[in-house]
Amino acid sequence: MSTAALMNQQIRLAARPVGMPKPSDWNVTSEAVRDIADGEIVVKTLYLSLDPAMRGWMNDAKSYIRPVAIGEVMRAGGIGKVIASKSPKFAVGDAVSGGIGVQEYWIGAADDKTAGFYRVDEKVAPLPKYLNALGMPGMTAYFGLLEVGMPKAGETVVVSGAAGAVGQTVGQVAKHKGCRVVGIAGGKDKCDFVVNELGFDACIDYKNESVKDGLKTHCPQGVDIYFDNVGGDILDAVLTRINMKARIIICGAISQYNNTAPVKGPANYLSLLVNRARMEGIVVFDYADRYHIGAAEMATWMKEGTFKTREDIVEGLENFPDALLMLFEGRNFGKLILQVAKE
Ligand SMILES: NC(=O)c1ccc[n+]([C@@H]2O[C@H](COP(=O)([O-])OP(=O)(O)OC[C@H]3O[C@@H](n4cnc5c(N)ncnc54)[C@H](OP(=O)(O)O)[C@@H]3O)[C@@H](O)[C@H]2O)c1
Repeated sequence: MSTAALMNQQIRLAARPVGMPKPSDWNVTSEAVRDIADGEIVVKTLYLSLDPAMRGWMNDAKSYIRPVAIGEVMRAGGIGKVIASKSPKFAVGDAVSGGIGVQEYWIGAADDKTAGFYRVDEKVAPLPKYLNALGMPGMTAYFGLLEVGMPKAGETVVVSGAAGAVGQTVGQVAKHKGCRVVGIAGGKDKCDFVVNELGFDACIDYKNESVKDGLKTHCPQGVDIYFDNVGGDILDAVLTRINMKARIIICGAISQYNNTAPVKGPANYLSLLVNRARMEGIVVFDYADRYHIGAAEMATWMKEGTFKTREDIVEGLENFPDALLMLFEGRNFGKLILQVAKE
C-alpha cells in the first residue's frame, strides 16, 4: 500500500508532571508518513498498552529505562499491522508487537532494537491478549511469581491490584500451581470478578473493608507469598501477617507514583527480620529470553478454558491523556488498552 498521503498523529510529552499528569503535559502533533528506505517498515498502530510505568518514564529520574524526553513521542508498547515493508524480516499484513509509541504509525528499521518488533499470531489468540497475559504484564506476573515467589502447592499467595493486568495473571498462575489465592482489589465488582470468574479463593475490598481484618479472615495460615503491585499501606498491612521464610515480590507501587511527597516505604519491615523473610524486586525485561515459555503455558491454559483474561479497551488516540489516568484512579477493569485503529 502507498503511504504517501498518510498523516501520523502523535502524542508527545510537553512537560514533566507534578503529581497526576494534566492535559497540558501533552502535545498533539501531526506529520506526514515519510517514504521508507531499504530495511525499513511502516507499522499501523492498532492497540497500545497503557501501563502504570508510563508515569515513571515521564519523570527526569534514574530508573531501569531512560526517561522520555520533553518533545519526544510518548513511549508505549503496542500491536500493529505492517502496511509497507522494504525488509525481508516482515511482510505487509504481518501483525507485530513492539515499542510503537503513542502515535498512529511507526516508521523505521525492521530490526530496530528499541522497538523490538516480533510477529504475533492472531490465530492463537485475539490481538489484545498479546498486550495482557501473552505480553508484558503476563510475563511480569508469570516470572515474578514463579522465579521470585517460588510457590509451592498448599501455600497462601496474596496479590494486590488483583483485578488488574498483572494481578489477574498472578492469581491464576498461583491457582494452577496449587496455592490458596487471596486478592486485594478496589470495590465489590472487581472482588466478585476475581473470585467468581478467575477462581481466586477470596478477595479483600480495600476500599470498603480493613485489609488487616480481611487477611486475618482469609489467610488463617498466614501469608507465604505477597505479590505487591501497590505498595503503601497495603504492603504494611500484609507485612504483619507473613509467615516464616515468606517471599515478597516488589513488582510495583502504584499508590506512590503520583505522590509529590517522598515515596512511603514500609514501616513494618522488621517483620522480614522476625520471619527470616525476603523482599525482592522484579523487572520483567530480565526474562525476555524466556517469554515464549510463559506465553506457551498460559496459551495452553487459555485453550483448556482454565485461564481467563479481561481487557478494558478505550478507543481513540486523542483519549490517551485521560485514559492513562484511569490506572491511577482505579477506573480500569482489566488490562487497559487504547484502540487506535480498527483491525
Ligand atoms: N516490575 C515490572 O517489571 C512491572 C511490569 C508491569 C507492571 N508493573 C507494576 O505492576 C503494577 C500493576 O500494573 P498493571 O499494568 O497490572 O496495572 P492494573 O493493575 O491493570 O491497573 C492499575 C490498578 O492499580 C490499582 N490502584 C491504583 N491506585 C491505587 C492505590 N492508591 N492503592 C491501591 N491500588 C491502586 C487500581 O485497581 P483497584 O481498583 O483495585 O484499586 C488500578 O486499576 C503496577 O504497580 C506496575 O507499575 C511492574
